[in-house]
Formats: sequence, C-alpha cells, structure tokens
Amino acid sequence: MTTIQNPQGSFELDATIQALQAIVGPERVSATESDRDQHARDQSAHPGRLPDVVVWPQTTAEVSAIMRHANQVGAPVVAWGAGTSIEGNPIPVHGGIVLDFRDMNQILKVHQNDFQVTVQPGILYKDMNESLARYGLFFAPDPGANASIGGMVANNAAGIRTVKYGATKDNVLALEVVLANGEVIRTGSRSIKQSAGYDLTHLFIGSEGTLGIVTEATLKLDPLPEHFSAVTAAFPTVNDAAEAVFGIIGSGLGPAALELLDTKTVTLMNTEEGIDLVIAPNLFMEFNGASEAALNEELSMVENICNESACRHFQAGVGREARNRLWQARHRAFEVMVRHHPNQAYLLTDAAVPISQYPVLVAATDDIMEELNLRGYILGHAGDGNMHTAIFFPADDAEARAKTEQINSHIVQQSLALGGTSTGEHGVGLGKQKYMEQEHGPIAMKLMRDLKALLDPNGILNPGKVLGQT
Ligand code: LAC
Ligand code: ZN
Repeated sequence: MTTIQNPQGSFELDATIQALQAIVGPERVSATESDRDQHARDQSAHPGRLPDVVVWPQTTAEVSAIMRHANQVGAPVVAWGAGTSIEGNPIPVHGGIVLDFRDMNQILKVHQNDFQVTVQPGILYKDMNESLARYGLFFAPDPGANASIGGMVANNAAGIRTVKYGATKDNVLALEVVLANGEVIRTGSRSIKQSAGYDLTHLFIGSEGTLGIVTEATLKLDPLPEHFSAVTAAFPTVNDAAEAVFGIIGSGLGPAALELLDTKTVTLMNTEEGIDLVIAPNLFMEFNGASEAALNEELSMVENICNESACRHFQAGVGREARNRLWQARHRAFEVMVRHHPNQAYLLTDAAVPISQYPVLVAATDDIMEELNLRGYILGHAGDGNMHTAIFFPADDAEARAKTEQINSHIVQQSLALGGTSTGEHGVGLGKQKYMEQEHGPIAMKLMRDLKALLDPNGILNPGKVLGQT
C-alpha cells in the first residue's frame, strides 16, 4: 500500500487508482512513469513534478465522480489541457491526480446565427478554429500556442488579437463547472448582455483550476475578416516604436494586431524564419477593413503616425501569404528563442500597463538590461500594453540568474507603479505568486483566500497555485 503525503493530508494511492478505474474503466487510468512524466511540466522553465496518477475522463459525470472521490480522500487534482502554458500553471507541485481532458474535445454545438459555439474543454484552439472556418467564424483570442480551450479559460489566455477582440475572459458567455465536491453548476447564459447577480463565469476564468474544473464553455465568436493588410514598420529605437504604438491606439485606429519586436528578436526572426525585416525595432500590425478603400485610408493614417515617430521603413499591403508567414514567425518567436539557446536557462516576463505608459515600461526595461549588462529579447502585444522579455543565461551561472531575477522584479515593480499588472496573460502560475500581495493588497488577498476556502475547503484543486500553500 502506498500512502501519498501532501500538504492537504495523505491518501492511499492504490485505493484511489481502484476508485478511478471503477469510475472511468481501467484503460483510462495510468500510473506508468511515462504517462506521469508527460504531465509533469508545461512549456515554462519551472521544474516539473510527477503526478501520482493520470486519468482521462470522457463525461462531466465522470469528472464529478472523480472530484467526489478526490475530495473525500484529500487527493490533489490538476486539470490538464495541452500543457502549453508558460508560468508553470498546471505543474502538479503536490502530485495527486491529473485530469487530462484529451478525450473531452468535442464541439457540442455551433450557434451559427448567434456567432457562438459550445465546446468541451479539451478541444485545441487551432482545431476548433479550423472547424469553425466553414461557418466563416473564429474564436479570436489567439495565444500563439495550440492551447486547449479549457487551458485558455483557466489562465484567461490572450495574445496578438486581444488588442481588437479582447482576452479569453471577454469572449466567454457561459460555463459548466464541476466543483471540488463533485457538484455541477452552470454559470452565465448565451445572452451577450448579462446582469443577473454575481458573475461566477468570470470568477472561474483565470482561476487556474484552483476553484473548479471547467467541463464545458460557450464562447463568443467573430466573423473572419474579409479585407486585411499586414504592415511592418521599422524604427530607430524601441522607444520610438513604443511611441508609435501609443499614437496608433490613441488616434482611434483599430488594429487587429499590433506587436513590438526589438532588434534582437527581429534579427532572430530573419535568420530562423527566413523573413526579410529591416534590422531594427519593428512593429508588426494587421488592419481589417469593411472594404479595400476603408482599409487603404486607415493604412495611410497609420503611416503618417509612424513617420511622426521617425519610422525608417514602412511596408503595408503585405499579401496573404506574406501575412501568414509574418504571423507564423511571431507565433513561433518564443519557441524559436528556446531552440536558439539550447541548454540555457531562461526567464520569460509578462507585464502589462495602461497604453499611455507603454513607452515608459519599455524604456525602463531597456535601461535595466543595459545597466546590468544582460540583454534579453523584448517583444510584446504592444497594442494592449503587454510586454514580454525573454532572458537566456547559462543554467549554472548564479550571477546571471540573480541579475535575471532583478530584471524581472524591476519590470514588475515598474508595471505596478505605472498602474499595471505583474501578468497580462500568462497567469500567476509559479512565478508570480510572490507579487500577488503587493498587487492586490492584504485585504483583497484575504478575500481571495476566503473564496478559495469556500469553494475548495479541502484545498485539493491545483494546490500551491495563485495563493500559495492554500
Ligand atoms: C508570446 C507568448 C510568450 O507572446 O505569450 O509569444
Ligand atoms: Zn504573449
């Protein structure tokens, strides 16, 4: 008999495996080393941890029965989608059960006339959008990676299209959630307007699986744009580029994407992705228009604004193929960086500020890297004030590691001082817990802990996340 100890207490692994097998059948429960290993880490640099057992449910009723058992015996439960998160969000730091939603990956209903879809959480973002394309619709929040919808909801994922369409939270209307004790609730409705009491849908979105397990989501969709143009614009400095971002957003133009890439990132894109950008800080943009004429008018306004920020090279009207290549390169940027620095440790930051403060944040980041003589990549979803840096260093270089931490902390402090947040889209995971008290204050943190205790009194849902050891 194997007794598993964790901060929530202890549970008998063999008895739990038997209980899980009784619920889903023996073939959908595994405690093999390789299955556990595939659920030990996400795509961040945070160290992995093996769960004790992996289970692949197929229905909400099965998830409910699993939760009832886990809650009774005090076994940790971590929901698993595609494992593409980048802040350690689903790492089962206290072991226990991983609930892998691979087999709950169906589109349940396309509400075509309402521009909505109801899906199971295991469906992958790209697969879902491929299926929706035949209706001329798509789910806009684009995390870059082929995340699962459950994971996107859990982390409130966002990305290059958020500047126009919002984050995941802005595009979820209703959820089905299994609570820690196995009870099943439905939140929200299919109405775009909702004003009926406490907003439970948004309590679960971004809670990183610590308050409940999402088993169904109804999402708001958008029509696929018909007229679009991709733009690249090169600037003398990142600060000039950041100023242009502020100008474009401030002028009321509505870019569908507005990304900043510093010189280091651009150089990497050119060599690794075979694109031909001017070696300088660049903005990647996309504009969608109701007609070609409207689009062209918008583009000439954008060019003027860029020129006011000393733009060196402006290329609009990039065709569909080149546009796709550009966004593919941008999507793969982080992955390419990791590949380009084999065997190195890294840190990825994710701060976000109000748009007027974006140039200040970028300049401060540039300065601190200069000061510490540790140059990371700077890139980000500039149009919504979200900046990432990726800093690579030799894993055994303690001094570089300390400097990297210093840069991360400096960026977070700057963001908070500028009215922003420690994480725009990657979530709290393992890396941002240390800033939560400062960001929210002790009273709000107590309220969050009280909510957690109310919804998960035995502390079994993704323990060790968001609020630390609760
Ligand atoms: C990106 C991920 C790192 O923007 O959020 O590429
Ligand atoms: Zn991002």
